[in-house]
Amino acid sequence: MSSQSLYQVPSDIANNALVNNDQYKKMYQESIVNPEGFWREHGKRVDWIKPYSKIKQTSFDDHNLSIEWFYDGTLNASANCLDRHLEDNGDKVAIIWEGDDAAEQRKITYKELHADVCKFANALRSQGVARGDVVTIYMPMVPEAAVAMLACARIGAVHSVVFGGFSPDSIASRVIDGKSKVVITADEGIRGGRKIPLKDSVDQALSNPDVQCVEKVIVLNRTGGDINWVEGRDIWWESIMDVASEHCAYEEMNAEDPLFLLYTSGSTGNPKGVLHTTGGYMVYASMTHEYVFDYKDGEIYWCTADVGWITGHSYMVYGPLANGATILIHEGVPNYPSPARLGEMIDRHNVNILYTAPTLIRALMAEGKEQFDGFDGKSLRIMGSVGEPINPEAWRWYHEVIGREHCPIVDTWWQTETGGILISPLPGATDTKPGSATRPFFGVQPALVDNMGNIIEGAAEGNLVILDSWPGQMRTVYGDHDRFALTYFKTFRGMYFTGDGARRDEDGYYWITGRVDDVINVSGHRLGTAEVESALVAHELVAEAAVVGYPHDIKGQGIYAYVTLSRGIEATEELRLELRQWVRKEIGALATPDLIQFAGGLPKTRSGKIMRRFLRKIAANEITNLGDSSTLADPAVIDTLIETRLNKA
Ligand code: WTA
Repeated sequence: MSSQSLYQVPSDIANNALVNNDQYKKMYQESIVNPEGFWREHGKRVDWIKPYSKIKQTSFDDHNLSIEWFYDGTLNASANCLDRHLEDNGDKVAIIWEGDDAAEQRKITYKELHADVCKFANALRSQGVARGDVVTIYMPMVPEAAVAMLACARIGAVHSVVFGGFSPDSIASRVIDGKSKVVITADEGIRGGRKIPLKDSVDQALSNPDVQCVEKVIVLNRTGGDINWVEGRDIWWESIMDVASEHCAYEEMNAEDPLFLLYTSGSTGNPKGVLHTTGGYMVYASMTHEYVFDYKDGEIYWCTADVGWITGHSYMVYGPLANGATILIHEGVPNYPSPARLGEMIDRHNVNILYTAPTLIRALMAEGKEQFDGFDGKSLRIMGSVGEPINPEAWRWYHEVIGREHCPIVDTWWQTETGGILISPLPGATDTKPGSATRPFFGVQPALVDNMGNIIEGAAEGNLVILDSWPGQMRTVYGDHDRFALTYFKTFRGMYFTGDGARRDEDGYYWITGRVDDVINVSGHRLGTAEVESALVAHELVAEAAVVGYPHDIKGQGIYAYVTLSRGIEATEELRLELRQWVRKEIGALATPDLIQFAGGLPKTRSGKIMRRFLRKIAANEITNLGDSSTLADPAVIDTLIETRLNKA
């Protein structure tokens, strides 16, 4: 690695940072050699009702799985995000909110947020929600989304946030899996100048005859738009808040009691309900937020993720609020009404820490630097990236145009399953290389293994695994512990398999190369190819479908679908459009195939297994070196697919 591509820690950052390089090395070493001692100390960063005496009981042996942290301690997550700040920081702003239309602005202090959460917690109880119940949240990016989450946590209910871009079917399957009695939504959301009919989607979801569990739908009045109303089931948020008391004692939860469920795509089957518990998650989310962003008291922190994703949970709500930060929440998209919006918001609110995704950076990059001519950016100190590999070109643009060449970039690698960041630079400690997530966080032991599961040392490329547990790790797949063991611990026995591939360079830095399973990453959103395939084959004219990712300039990966139509059906442009719409309706806009190639046949082995590696290569327009096709039942299929491929760019 040439020294030109090494970005050294700026000395002003190193001198004032929470940890410098020597301290990082010492702390990391200690966290691996003596995890009990390390976490016994750092677990104290959250407020416990009953302090823990046990630290960890963990085993990645798939027959004897165990992941427990601080397990005799008790606490409450909402108390950690709110009550603990009241005495010294009650009047500090907790949330700055900016509407899709920048004319709409709100500021909410910790005291006010606490009062709102208490009221809504009481309101939930008045609707029959009890400790352990799963509550589904399908909300726009308004402060009330955080209020709803924290209110659930306060009374020990388990929230399950569904991203506002998911379809009615996706809501239905999540509601059914969680057996939710209550759904919280808004009449409409607003994003990029468009109204999003959230309540309408909930109505459609609940009209599915398989959804029998929902008793109440709580509706926030966001736009006042026309909505359908079901008497006896639907209740206005405002009406139950008006009569609720501001006093609500929080529930005493065990460290291992569930905090939330969040559904995410895997390589097979329906999205899995990833279950996170309370103690370890709060310790890990707050600690990583503080160290990875070098967060300092009084700073304004902006995470552009939607609350429907894990980043919105750990680094918009729980981590920063536990640390008493002032968070900026934006209702809309950071490049509307113009690409200058991101910079305008940073300047308007004096944002010190920005956390965003490569897909946004690439989209802004495509608009040209002049969009940022009026951008000052002097408040910015640290910038983060998450969700997908960041290409070095986008990294440099981010560094130069947004960071004005003086802000360290933390390229944070992690997953819904990991609860928090596992591999990332620390601003004051780690020299960075564009495109590398660099080194593990404290307590995290990454390794690379070959396809047989042998650990490979030194500079090498392989499958990325983690050798021992960390406090923020998911505990199970909701309702399916066997699937948890099978998905993460059976591929390579005794190790947590991430599903990602990675390279480690001569400095020990990790470079994530992307998924090695059938998961694709579209604009930082995870999707199982199997989900898109099953949506396609649910269409009556489709006989068979195979879906792969292909390189896409803005989205990172685009969705490429090969579709075989039922006998006698003609492949037309209209049908192509209809299928795109169909998938959109079945899953949500983010799953819409970019390219659909009609195929008379798919490359299969004699036993009928689709050979995806050919399909991936053809979709990527890499047709010169396709590899051995002799095991195919009909090798001629390949030639036809190549001829009619759609990505010839
Ligand atoms: C990918 C998002 C490269 C990776 C927090 C992972 C990344 C998946 C990075 C998890 C990064 C996330 N560099 N790849 N910095 N961050 N990924 O569950 O493939 O939505 O497995 O969690 O995103 O996506 P998820």
